[in-house]
Amino acid sequence: MDTNQLELWLQDIQVQNMVNADVEVINNSPLQMLGKGRQGAVFQVTEDICVKVFGNEEDCEREHYALSLGQGSGLFPNIHAKGPLYIAMDIIHGVDLREYLQSQPLTPELSAKLIEMLVIFKTIGFERIDHHKRQIFIQPDGTLKVIDVARTVWRDRVYPYPRKLLTSLGEENKDVFLTHVQEMAPELYGEWMHYIRMEELSRQIYQVLLPQKEDKVKLKKMSQQLATTEDEEQYVLQLTGLVHKVFKEEWIKTMLARGADPDAVMTRIDEYWKSLEHGQYRHLDRFLIEGRRFAGEKHHDFDKHPIKKKYGGEKVHKEAKGNKKKHKEKKRHHS
Ligand SMILES: Nc1ncnc2c1ncn2[C@@H]1O[C@H](COP(=O)(O)OP(=O)(O)OP(=O)(O)O)[C@@H](O)[C@H]1O
Ligand SMILES: [Mg+2]
Repeated sequence: MDTNQLELWLQDIQVQNMVNADVEVINNSPLQMLGKGRQGAVFQVTEDICVKVFGNEEDCEREHYALSLGQGSGLFPNIHAKGPLYIAMDIIHGVDLREYLQSQPLTPELSAKLIEMLVIFKTIGFERIDHHKRQIFIQPDGTLKVIDVARTVWRDRVYPYPRKLLTSLGEENKDVFLTHVQEMAPELYGEWMHYIRMEELSRQIYQVLLPQKEDKVKLKKMSQQLATTEDEEQYVLQLTGLVHKVFKEEWIKTMLARGADPDAVMTRIDEYWKSLEHGQYRHLDRFLIEGRRFAGEKHHDFDKHPIKKKYGGEKVHKEAKGNKKKHKEKKRHHS
């Protein structure tokens, strides 16, 4: 194959990736297209060689890497040339497994070849030990060949059993294949069945955890009863209540930290709040001044007060006690 000639032809072929669809192809070269997929389009170059033209370089690198891993195995097309966006390889003749199974039965011999294929995938280092039946070809001599291998390597997530192969076989042939596996490789069969059951279980759990649409609608409607911003009067009332609560909490914390008497603090706060509700905001200054005065006041039963814990009075109390002790010692010292 003349690589220079090939690259000249390739200048007249444009392949563009699409979202969730096969590539779009503009072909002004004399090469005939054999087929296309989501990653590239394949053209016949000679009697035995084709070229896969990719929409992006990463897919090309990936497929080339996977094909390189399998070059000695006889399972994949041989590579003849490579560029950043193309791979020239053997044309795979024969019939693909999808077409084949439309008229032919899945025999134990064919199942054995499929298991051997999966074993080769594993031994050459593919991460995904799986393939769609559409990309597996049966040669006239009965051997298998596999194309489109980019997705077998450089994967984030792999499945522990050939999920794609099994589902692509269809319900009937899947069962036939599994029966063959059970006869020929009982341990492998046991493992696959375990994963199949786990998968079924995850599907059931998903169903249980899936939020029902009706429930969502119902909850949305029901939760409107909790909303408070619609009704202006209610809104003001509730917002005032909330601010009052926060104010009270913060004020008590401040006062207790300064060793004030909790009951006296709360009474003053309530009084102050009442004055605010009556629009007497000018009391604010006086309240703050008085608050400071409170902080200097001594109290007697802080220890037993129920709000001591709630507002972190423990630490404050210890400090206060410490001061009291010091004060007593001072007094003794003086007398
Ligand atoms: N080596 C080959 N010999 C003969 N035909 C081939 C070869 N490689 C690919 N083809 C044909 O071209 C089609 C597209 O190739 P391929 O499946 O590799 O493309 P893809 O874009 O990677 O597909 P996918 O979207 O499934 O990843 C195949 O279905 C097949 O018909
Ligand atoms: Mg592909």
